[in-house]
Amino acid sequence: MDFYRNLKVSDWASLIPFGIACVAVGFGVKTLIDKKLGGPVNPAIRKEESKVVDSLDIEDLGNKAVFCRCWRSSKFPYCDGSHNAHNTVHADNVGPLIIKKKE
Ligand code: FES
Repeated sequence: MDFYRNLKVSDWASLIPFGIACVAVGFGVKTLIDKKLGGPVNPAIRKEESKVVDSLDIEDLGNKAVFCRCWRSSKFPYCDGSHNAHNTVHADNVGPLIIKKKE
């Protein structure tokens, strides 16, 4: 501990570039990992749950049901069209699952 107390302001100042370099390397490594592995599939929906599971009775679906597969819908598990903004921002191509009765 005495070592740190005996450092002068100029000594601490000389450590600033090293600190900045460490932060930059850490940010770069995180960015690289995010690009290679991707972030979480689910960015915000019911994060307090250990696993998001929905169950519906097929009789309750009516003639047509549109389910979200992009994990951005405010009406999850139903699609609210949020996939369009996601696709534009991230150059992605995700879309909903549409289930409908044959006519
Ligand atoms: S909002 Fe997610 S697929 Fe439409």
